[in-house]
Amino acid sequence: SPGDDLAGRRVVVSAGGTREALDPVRFLGNRSSGKQGYAVAAEAALRGAHVTLVAANVDLATPPGCEVVRVESALELQEQLTGLVSAGDVDVVVMAAAVADFRPRHYVGTKIKKSHGDGDESAPTVELVRNPDILAGLVAARGESRTPYVVGFAAETGDESGDVLHHARAKLERKGCDLLVANEVGGGKAFGQDDNTVHLLRPGTQEVVTVGPATKAAVATAIWDTVAPELR
Ligand code: C5P
Repeated sequence: SPGDDLAGRRVVVSAGGTREALDPVRFLGNRSSGKQGYAVAAEAALRGAHVTLVAANVDLATPPGCEVVRVESALELQEQLTGLVSAGDVDVVVMAAAVADFRPRHYVGTKIKKSHGDGDESAPTVELVRNPDILAGLVAARGESRTPYVVGFAAETGDESGDVLHHARAKLERKGCDLLVANEVGGGKAFGQDDNTVHLLRPGTQEVVTVGPATKAAVATAIWDTVAPELR
């Protein structure tokens, strides 16, 4: 039993994948199911935390003891997360959501038409703009206080696991988070699956904890086993 080592803690978990609207019926999206984020939230609640899930396009049952806030796009996700964190007393933010790096520059308020007249075979060009890096923003905003503790995820498509770890280490340094959970994706790995292999990396140590192949629940347990003792 995990016990209650998160009793009294406030935890915010983002999960799922953002959708960036092109028009009222179309969006740019990704294959994140939200399962790993939901497992992280469920485990935190079991350990006594007060958990808010910020869920982007997730079709899963709400884990016992968790509150859910639904969002669609990266900008909505950012708004909800910064709102929760700036309201104060959040101890841990886990960024498990797959956030779109880009969104269409223009939202078209009516369904984009295939053709503008007889014989029109043209196709539109979609211009994209960058989305904010929400995780990096949370780290920057907390400044010297180091609160909340911030956990990032990294979906890496390296060929060899050495590659994955190399990229993950660089990402940990770049994002400035306290824990990076790196997992291999592609080739049917991770996205939408029930099992996952992850590597847990922390700043200031070369130590790597590898978990899996394991259920996403077991991965969640390993994450909280790592994070809980680090909370002040
Ligand atoms: O850089 P990359 O997208 O691989 O980083 C993944 C991590 O950063 C995840 O924790 C994800 O939730 C977060 N992220 C974010 N905002 C973005 C892109 C990713 O917070 N625009």
